[in-house]
Amino acid sequence: LVRQPSGTTDERAERDLKEAAALLQSGKTVAFPTETVYGLGGDARRSDAVESIFTAKGRPADNPLIVHIADRRQLDELVSGVKPVEAALMDAFWPGPLTLVLPVRPGVLSPRVTAGLDTVGIRMPDHPVALRLLAVSGCPVAAPSANRSGRPSPTRASHVREDLAGRIGGILDGGPTGVGVESTVVQAGDDGVVTILRPGGITAEQLAAVAAAVETDPALAGSGPDEHSPAPRSPGMKYTHYAPRGRLCVVEGPSPQRVTDHIRAALAEAAARGERTAVLAFDEHRSAYEGERVYSLGSLARLEEAAHRLYDVLRACDEDGAAFILSEACPQEGLGAAVMNRLLKAAGHEVVQA
Ligand code: TXA
Ligand code: MG
Repeated sequence: LVRQPSGTTDERAERDLKEAAALLQSGKTVAFPTETVYGLGGDARRSDAVESIFTAKGRPADNPLIVHIADRRQLDELVSGVKPVEAALMDAFWPGPLTLVLPVRPGVLSPRVTAGLDTVGIRMPDHPVALRLLAVSGCPVAAPSANRSGRPSPTRASHVREDLAGRIGGILDGGPTGVGVESTVVQAGDDGVVTILRPGGITAEQLAAVAAAVETDPALAGSGPDEHSPAPRSPGMKYTHYAPRGRLCVVEGPSPQRVTDHIRAALAEAAARGERTAVLAFDEHRSAYEGERVYSLGSLARLEEAAHRLYDVLRACDEDGAAFILSEACPQEGLGAAVMNRLLKAAGHEVVQA
């Protein structure tokens, strides 16, 4: 494994980075930090490299990968056109947690990257290690989150190691990631309407400040996968993701008091059944759960804290052996939309009204 522990000398970091770039150039996989979550990268033009990503993750083959670039000039080689609204979004949010689904230029990328679609998701990550790796390797890098399929996404190098040690070429350690949830995936129509296929680090409000019209894929509003809801346009959204090993349930309610009362009663019942329990709570309500195992989602006034911590907290619940986990819900505004999307998926859409 390649390491780049924070606090190492520049010389050492540069050597590790070059080693990682060489791995990519030889068709191997490397996990690397981005501003959202760690990615598992491979040269997007090589089917052997892309195949290794799917194998290491145990990822379904019909779920396409995001391609990462360091320079807008790489776009020409990869896509067959950029609409004015897409260029405006790139100007506003790249580098950053926004993935644009664009028409793929045939014959350059491995067909495994796009899972047979005629589009490709592309983003420029806002992380110095990721940008250096992309620039030094010179590769367009296909990179899904660096977790085993179905596990919470990795926000620390140790999470990558837990899931993928021995299955990949190396890990570049850039410390904990910042945003903590994945990029927002969008697609623009011919009419200039921007559709959110996956909520993420760039909020709907931020997009609306740049694009005239922003919509959310109607499939995301559904109560989970069933034969009556429309198929999501982002294939990844149909899978149960991010799941902890214990049963997770999200509690919504008309008032904080009703929610905390409901959670305390449900915890008492689970404890009586002999189950190990945990609560995911916002700091404003923590004092209501005295004596319980509480994981903080940060303050309701700063939902970026919940985004930053969510996956780490879900993994901690696993480590702790929690069999029954209850989480408070948050408003679906700003980053709250991404937080609730991931929480509901982790819960297999099990929501109760207090
Ligand atoms: O923040 C992120 O986006 C992270 C970091 C590593 O960059 N990557 C990430 O990749 O989350 P992954 O593979 O875990 O999720 C990619 C999502 C999936 O939901 C996939 O279906 C969607 O993007 N996607 C990729 N290409 C697409 C396409 N051509 N059309 C629609 N959705 C696409
Ligand atoms: Mg993922």
